[in-house]
Amino acid sequence: MNTSGTDCLTPAGNLLSENLVTLITGLLNEPYLETFLTDYKNFGEIVHTRVYESLHQAYHLNNLDVRKEIQSVLFQIYNCCFSPPLSACARNQYSPFIISLRNIIEKSWLEFETRRIREYQLPHAEDNFVSRLTTLCRTHRAATHPLFDYLSTQAGDRHFDYFFRSDTALNVLFFDLVAMMLPGSYPFTRSEITKNLWDEAGQGNEHHNHVDLYHSLLKARNLRPGGDQFSSLYNWQGLTGYNVFLLGGVNRQHYFKLVGAMAMTELLDPPQYSKLVDGARRIGISDKNIYYYSEHIEIDVDHADGWLNKVIQPLIDFDPVSRHEIYTGALLRLETCADYYDDLLNTLKKL
Ligand SMILES: [Fe+2]
Ligand SMILES: [Fe+2]
Repeated sequence: MNTSGTDCLTPAGNLLSENLVTLITGLLNEPYLETFLTDYKNFGEIVHTRVYESLHQAYHLNNLDVRKEIQSVLFQIYNCCFSPPLSACARNQYSPFIISLRNIIEKSWLEFETRRIREYQLPHAEDNFVSRLTTLCRTHRAATHPLFDYLSTQAGDRHFDYFFRSDTALNVLFFDLVAMMLPGSYPFTRSEITKNLWDEAGQGNEHHNHVDLYHSLLKARNLRPGGDQFSSLYNWQGLTGYNVFLLGGVNRQHYFKLVGAMAMTELLDPPQYSKLVDGARRIGISDKNIYYYSEHIEIDVDHADGWLNKVIQPLIDFDPVSRHEIYTGALLRLETCADYYDDLLNTLKKL
């Protein structure tokens, strides 16, 4: 392969003239990525420099367009986990270069989030950690967000349809996210995690699994997700919220963060979904079609209790140091979720 000039660059080489998302997506889907990087010696270095520059813009200069770009790149890298097994993306999942990009992005992003959550003090060891987490969630602005009052009392069909589209990517991924918590799980937490997974799978009833329930709602509303599950709607807030789960799902070192994030998710859902279901009924969506959400009003009370008392409490009894990571993961979820709700409500009001 000729590396002496730009005249005969391969299609992958041409990617350098593209924006960062197109560039990295192109590399992820390059069937001969490792050969390409070996032949074009300074290509990797150029991309690293661009990523560092973008991270500075995104997280030090608060350029929100670039923040969206960075989170979008991370989103693409994480989604290699779910790509078709015979695709180039799957082959590149553990490319050292791709992993290096992921590490660089995660490090800067987490440093930013850590600065942001500094105001929340880690509870003292003697505190009742489970009740502390519950209070943290109940009093956080994510839990009292006006988005759900808006859905309950004011939103019309087009607002609900936008909300349903925007809610798709994580809802249809939830089984996988719970499943990602099983490898390497502590044996005493497995029955609870497995119970969550079983519920996600419809407790053995193939028509009752949560992904299908959600697809039924989309179908009833005439909403057709493409391969991207409507994730193209996401701004930096939606992408970051999604990425919090994958951060813990694919990185062993962030496993406890995902535990905290999951507990917050289950605690947040029931009261918010009650409001959502009230609003859906108000505009005439049938109980059958809104079943995905009404089902979670009850089941997530159980799941929240399970995460708190049958996963988190035994974990911190076994390894007290895990408290810090669980607490950080809970805050990551709450903060990014509140950002997402802000952006979504803002968008809905403009429709
Ligand atoms: Fe579910
Ligand atoms: Fe749940």
